[in-house]
Amino acid sequence: MRSVASGGRGCHTSEADGARAATILRVGTVGTGDDWRVTFRPDIPSPARIYDYLLGGKDNYPADREAAEEILAAAPDARLFALENRAFLRRAVKFLAAEAGIRQFIDIGSGLPTQGNVHEIAQIYAPEARVVYVDNDPVVLAHNRSMLHGVTNTAIIEQDLRRPASILADSQLAKLINFQEPAGLLLVAVVHFIADSDDPAGLIARLLDGLAPGSYLVLSHATADSRPESAKAERVFDRATARAYARSRDQVLAMVAGLELIDPGLEWAPQWRPDPAAGTTADPGRSHVYAVVARKPA
Ligand SMILES: C[S@@+](CC[C@H](N)C(=O)[O-])C[C@H]1O[C@@H](n2cnc3c(N)ncnc32)[C@H](O)[C@@H]1O
Repeated sequence: MRSVASGGRGCHTSEADGARAATILRVGTVGTGDDWRVTFRPDIPSPARIYDYLLGGKDNYPADREAAEEILAAAPDARLFALENRAFLRRAVKFLAAEAGIRQFIDIGSGLPTQGNVHEIAQIYAPEARVVYVDNDPVVLAHNRSMLHGVTNTAIIEQDLRRPASILADSQLAKLINFQEPAGLLLVAVVHFIADSDDPAGLIARLLDGLAPGSYLVLSHATADSRPESAKAERVFDRATARAYARSRDQVLAMVAGLELIDPGLEWAPQWRPDPAAGTTADPGRSHVYAVVARKPA
């Protein structure tokens, strides 16, 4: 376990450097080792960098862009997935901070910095809000370390969603999270990187077991329910740092069993408390993402 709470500006190699590094490093593939967790590997597409590309970000490399283009070929609405998912995250954090009185957040699978990071949204409504970001991708850790340098009440820790006990026992997390007080647990666009064999529902339950009653879960999850043919986009992740598993509505609903679903329950992301100004979405299933906010009973 290593925690990363501060640091200098992360460096970003040029595209030419990335391509050269890719050539040098194209000696192994995902599956032959685990060095992407500790080593910068621009040659192996990563979910965080693919997602960054789909969102229009700059922190991605040729291998990520190539993978993202393959995903777009299989699922032409993949950009909408990223945009609608991120918009849901913003609305859910606003709900927790402004309406539910939540003052501490754990954002697991936080991803690369983007517009409207969790602490930026939460602190609009509650300046004292505390946020712990959690990810297992070294590039995400480096960029978030840079973003959070000097930002009080925030930390980024290197942990894996598949090890909930280790997350809850993290000493950096314990500095910001009071386990006697309700927290917001964010699992946004990350659980679809967890295999059935790792028991995603069990992982969620174990994380919530460690949090106070009245805590909230914010969950979003990719699905191919609306466009079964888009399921083949999953295969692109077979050569990425994490495999992907789209799931059905019933499978996602099972992950929040026993929790109180906040109105409107499990919906397509664009339909979860949409901004009135945004108008209605004609075909919300195009987002390929289910969204729900649920409360641990008091
Ligand atoms: C698609 S991004 C989502 C970013 C952000 N949550 C959002 O919805 O905008 C998925 C993130 O989950 C992270 N991730 C994937 N598997 C993980 C795991 N087992 N433990 C921790 N983070 C993980 C990836 O590194 C990536 O940063």
